[in-house]
Amino acid sequence: MTLLAVEGLTISLPTPGGPLRVVRDASFALERRQTLGIVGESGSGKSMTALAIIGLLPAGATAAGRVMLDGEDLLMASEERLCALRGNRIAMIFQEPMTSLNPVHRVGDQVAEGLILHRGLDRAAALAEAARLLDRVGIAQAGARLRAYPHELSGGQRQRVMIALALACRPDLLIADEPTSALDVTVQAQIIELLRGLIDDFGMALLLISHDLAVVGEIADRVMVMYAGAVAEEGPTAALYAVRAHPYTQGLFGALPDRLARKGRRLAAIPGTVPLANELPPGCPFHGRCPKAAPICRETPPPWASHAADHRARCYFPGAAR
Ligand SMILES: Nc1ncnc2c1ncn2[C@@H]1O[C@H](COP(=O)(O)OP(=O)(O)OP(=O)(O)O)[C@@H](O)[C@H]1O
Ligand SMILES: [Mg+2]
Repeated sequence: MTLLAVEGLTISLPTPGGPLRVVRDASFALERRQTLGIVGESGSGKSMTALAIIGLLPAGATAAGRVMLDGEDLLMASEERLCALRGNRIAMIFQEPMTSLNPVHRVGDQVAEGLILHRGLDRAAALAEAARLLDRVGIAQAGARLRAYPHELSGGQRQRVMIALALACRPDLLIADEPTSALDVTVQAQIIELLRGLIDDFGMALLLISHDLAVVGEIADRVMVMYAGAVAEEGPTAALYAVRAHPYTQGLFGALPDRLARKGRRLAAIPGTVPLANELPPGCPFHGRCPKAAPICRETPPPWASHAADHRARCYFPGAAR
């Protein structure tokens, strides 16, 4: 069975002006041992999609559609059930580890806590396992580092601790939202290498959200491009990177594919800005910025166009770049 199947996910956030639909009709799937990368400009709904999966949307937000984890709809799950799943079957790591680690507790205790809670280990066994995990994520002298406080570690080490925390209960699904953006390029590469090794060792699936197309290209099996809360294109990484069927994807990649090889490359600037969720134009949400826009694009939302069986783009005029 597919590990994660998201169907028609639509997320509304409460605002003074009424509910704002920040994710619209997103569907995608993720198999065990696979990595799905989500890319798209700031505000495209990547984090909201991740938070809906793990049941941590902001207060007052509503999610419609289905988020099936091994056949169980997480959108229907009780808070109690979600608590049991979080940190156990699903874990998440965030961009800034300093905000997710508790500054007043030693890192060993923080990693051990999940092991005590979810795996029923006693404190001594949990600390021993925490040391093994810190060692596995590449922290030198892990046994001694158990007693360190978060501020005594470097940014890269803190992110490693966060990963150890996430792995403590051997999740089936790890969600990483910009896990390397706060790190310098060398450390970024090490963390990505670490994640890749962990997927193999732990047999988990990874949902990786990143602005960095090079990072996603290196690690993801499939990629989903989001624009203004909707999926614009989705497919196997190699095909999507080679074809770039959606004009938005082409814009993200910019004109020079060879520059992709460079680490740490950020998204190229596309003229104009993402329309706000309450100001979405009729038709295709990208038409105002699209070099290919035709009258129909301004009137009717485009249907999905298939480039291959498992590669599709939501565009009237999809095509290969160049
Ligand atoms: N608490 C909130 N209340 C109202 N709107 C919000 C809230 N959090 C986010 N939004 C809006 O929801 C939309 C989607 O946000 P989201 O955080 O998912 O984007 P993102 O793709 O993760 O962007 P980034 O790359 O900057 O992290 C944005 O337009 C954002 O302004
Ligand atoms: Mg985000």
